[in-house]
Amino acid sequence: MIKDKSSFDPTLNAASLRAQMLEDLRGRRKHHTLPRRFYTDPAYYALDLENIWYREWLFAGHDCELQKPGAYFTLTVGAYPVIVIRSREGTIRAFHNSCRHRGSRICAAAKGSAVRLVCPYHNWTYELDGSLMFARDMSPDFDPKEHGLKAVHCESVGGYIWICLAERAPDISAFRAAAEPYLAPHRLLEAKVAHENTIVENGNWKLVFENNRECYHCGGNHPELLRTFPEGQAVTSLTGGASDPVINAHWDRCEAAGLPSRFEISRDGQYRTTRIPLIGDAESFTMAGAPAVRRRLCDSVTEPRIGTMVMYHYPSSWNHILGDHAITFRLLPLGPTQTQLTTKWLVHKDAVEGVDYTIDELTRVWNATNDQDRRIVEENQIGVSSPAFEPGPYSLIREGGVIQFLDWYAGATERGAAPMLRSVA
Ligand code: FES
Ligand SMILES: [Fe+2]
Repeated sequence: MIKDKSSFDPTLNAASLRAQMLEDLRGRRKHHTLPRRFYTDPAYYALDLENIWYREWLFAGHDCELQKPGAYFTLTVGAYPVIVIRSREGTIRAFHNSCRHRGSRICAAAKGSAVRLVCPYHNWTYELDGSLMFARDMSPDFDPKEHGLKAVHCESVGGYIWICLAERAPDISAFRAAAEPYLAPHRLLEAKVAHENTIVENGNWKLVFENNRECYHCGGNHPELLRTFPEGQAVTSLTGGASDPVINAHWDRCEAAGLPSRFEISRDGQYRTTRIPLIGDAESFTMAGAPAVRRRLCDSVTEPRIGTMVMYHYPSSWNHILGDHAITFRLLPLGPTQTQLTTKWLVHKDAVEGVDYTIDELTRVWNATNDQDRRIVEENQIGVSSPAFEPGPYSLIREGGVIQFLDWYAGATERGAAPMLRSVA
């Protein structure tokens, strides 16, 4: 008989639910997938939001998308709508996208430009720094100073905007120190987004990231990507191929050209940077390996075969930075079995569409790869949702990255849950 352990006693309170989640994590079978409920259960999904998504730094978008004061984009993390906007002074700020009057969402658009932020409901009007400028017909004792938009932590690192919804954000300085040297030479602050798209994958966010952290599946699924991307175990191993002479030679050559390249991973495993050579003479993710953009991403990086600089940052992002363009990926959870993936293709700000590149050529390989991965994740979700599913073993040779992701997930969950368990003890 199949033992289905995925349904909860509805009388379990929040603290016992948290305790049970930790017990399930601590008791999980080594080097095996998580139990089914981590991928399916709405209660565990809600805990993922609280333990991880509402606590960690998340990739929101790029500085170069907000060129002028008043330029903004919005995103939604779980229950939190957020607006990210360039202030009059030029800094980038983030606010909860919820009016301090009766709570209406202020900006419904995905992006735009505003002189001031005006709530559509009763027209309370906010400055770009979030302060309330104007609220019609309020009583004399109403103090606008107490009703500015609530700030969300916001930091810029190497052309990437990061937000954190926690009251006290984790220290971002170690990530900045680790990532900036790798990102700086590519000058993404000065790039432009040539194209972006957003897809929804019907799978739990952890299945999406697990799939990203291995290339065991690549051979059978990604014919376009594998024309240029080496699927060998070195590139997804936990040392990034430090013992592989080809990868070492690549690192030496790129570092001699001023590009930090060696494999670096944070102590808790949350982020990693390294540079991976592409196959043969390939320079970019195109069908023939030739650059997709005639103008290089950055004028000062002239070395032709720099491969791809890969950076992941759990739980929200993975990235490829090539010589001619960069591709950035932002993950946001939509529900227990639904995840949003936004992909952006960045090119030199002066590269001209139709002259230096075409959107078709630029996006072909990763649009195909994303769609293939979407299908894989959706089939994975259907399978793990079966009451017959039981955690299966990872390949220690090919799926070390997935094991590493889940180790980070378990640690982050423990850290996220600890204060809440303390508060009810
Ligand atoms: S809810 Fe925004 S002005 Fe009333
Ligand atoms: Fe894939």
